[in-house]
Amino acid sequence: MTNKTAVTSAPILSVLAERWSPRAYDKSYQLTQNELVSILEAGRWAPSANNAQPTRYFVVTREDKNHAAIAGTLAGWNQAWAPDASAIILVGVESTNADGNVNPFANYDAGQAVAHLSVQAHELGLHVHQMAGLDIAKAAEILEVPENIHLIVSAVVGKIAPADTLEGPLHEREVAPRTRKSLDDIVLYGRP
Ligand SMILES: Cc1cc2nc3c(=O)[nH]c(=O)nc-3n(C[C@H](O)[C@H](O)[C@H](O)COP(=O)(O)O)c2cc1C
Repeated sequence: MTNKTAVTSAPILSVLAERWSPRAYDKSYQLTQNELVSILEAGRWAPSANNAQPTRYFVVTREDKNHAAIAGTLAGWNQAWAPDASAIILVGVESTNADGNVNPFANYDAGQAVAHLSVQAHELGLHVHQMAGLDIAKAAEILEVPENIHLIVSAVVGKIAPADTLEGPLHEREVAPRTRKSLDDIVLYGRP
């Protein structure tokens, strides 16, 4: 199996270096309730602006009656692999605070919550792959998402399968080395 561990310029936590977003998932693996709750709990304990906790999750397991319909909302390039994972999680935010004011940090907080959830999944021997490629409006309709919640992204979670269960470009991506911009490209020290 290709080594997908990040090549880092300084040591980082191994769970962070090893987390990655595969596309080959075990079609038969069912998440245990403990796994699912642990992942969501990690999201729950992520920090958020004013501790407003705007993130909401809609969990659709592969066995759920809505799974095929939700899988059908994914963009074609995601539909080719994502339905094999154990669950599709739709992530949304309550973007208005209890006082009626818009929370400008809601999406930021949701990203942070999903990051925590992904790391927790990795620690449990599972993988998460986030996907923006889906028809959000259609997914919201299928799940009857309340009006005060705005879906923003989806993510699958499941047990990784061997890369050779994928073909063509999907297989190529699965075995490609992971890359990042250098720290010099993304960090600006001591601006005037
Ligand atoms: C908000 C967001 C949306 C993404 N959308 C997709 C997607 O629709 N399809 C896909 O295959 N990967 C998607 N990805 C996965 C990224 O391409 C992936 O995280 C990135 O290439 C880095 O790879 P790594 O997670 O393995 O380190 C998305 C990731 C994020 C954070």
